[in-house]
Amino acid sequence: MEPANTEAKPQAATGQTPGAETATSRYSVEADTGLASTKTIIIDVESVDFHYGSSKALHAISLKIPEKQVTAFIGPSGCGKSTLLRCFNRMNDLVDNARVTAGEIRIKGANINAPSVDVIELRKQVGMVFQKSNPFPKSIYENIAYGLRISGVRDRDTIDGTVEQSLRGAALWDEVKNRLHESALGLSGGQQQRLCIARAIAVKPSVILMDEPCSALDPIATAKVEELIFALKDQFTIVIVTHNMQQATRCSDRTAFFYLGHLVEFDRTEKLFTNPVQKQTEDYISGRFG
Ligand SMILES: Nc1ncnc2c1ncn2[C@@H]1O[C@H](COP(=O)(O)OP(=O)(O)OP(=O)(O)O)[C@@H](O)[C@H]1O
Ligand SMILES: [Mg+2]
Repeated sequence: MEPANTEAKPQAATGQTPGAETATSRYSVEADTGLASTKTIIIDVESVDFHYGSSKALHAISLKIPEKQVTAFIGPSGCGKSTLLRCFNRMNDLVDNARVTAGEIRIKGANINAPSVDVIELRKQVGMVFQKSNPFPKSIYENIAYGLRISGVRDRDTIDGTVEQSLRGAALWDEVKNRLHESALGLSGGQQQRLCIARAIAVKPSVILMDEPCSALDPIATAKVEELIFALKDQFTIVIVTHNMQQATRCSDRTAFFYLGHLVEFDRTEKLFTNPVQKQTEDYISGRFG
């Protein structure tokens, strides 16, 4: 389990738009003996229950996700990985009768379910990349420019610059720079997924959620996306759901193992995969169930 931490009380836990903190208002810190450095906690999940109607999908989940690291969620199908991931940018709001029924989720110290939170603003801060790449049926350029325009950016040079920077950031620029105005649907699956990552990073979120982003990709495309995830953590906090244990070990710093809606174990990835504390974790990672 997580090492003991010394945690500063989160500031202004309600009503504050994530991202609005000043340089001096640290949200929460963790003294991580395992990593020999102090990590800032960006997502703080405290005793969260989640229901779909009367069915309870998450049971008293508590975990602290460090900033600018990759955190992987693993566990058998139906254990609640996607449900928890979707809580972080309130995508579950789109599902009828689905809601957090206890506990609190704070991002940068702000309760994201507080009535005053602007959900659009939250989703700018907490972007998402889905299992199946979903580019808009528009040009490669427009896929990225669109989100910027919606955010109110009008200046052509700024948009051109951000399109290039985002495509470079997603390791796609060299492959598409000569066809920016062709349809994104003409890209390969792996390229489309990197375009979706470019689209997500263009609006400069703090957190990027990825729900099985490589499950439809071949090994070469998967390797490219994994390299990208690893590179992006310099600038972004990434939370990735994966069924691929090798992927979790290759590209994550922390891993959380879920089972039947419970968080069983959360630790440094290397520790969880080599020396898990819980028997259920050991059984799962060694393929004895799931
Ligand atoms: N829209 C929904 N309505 C009702 N129940 C749902 C809904 N979405 C998920 N559930 C239920 O909530 C539980 C957790 O589902 P979730 O999709 O979070 O699991 P998961 O760990 O992501 O699984 P997988 O690995 O198959 O994607 C499951 O029992 C599932 O049936
Ligand atoms: Mg899922």
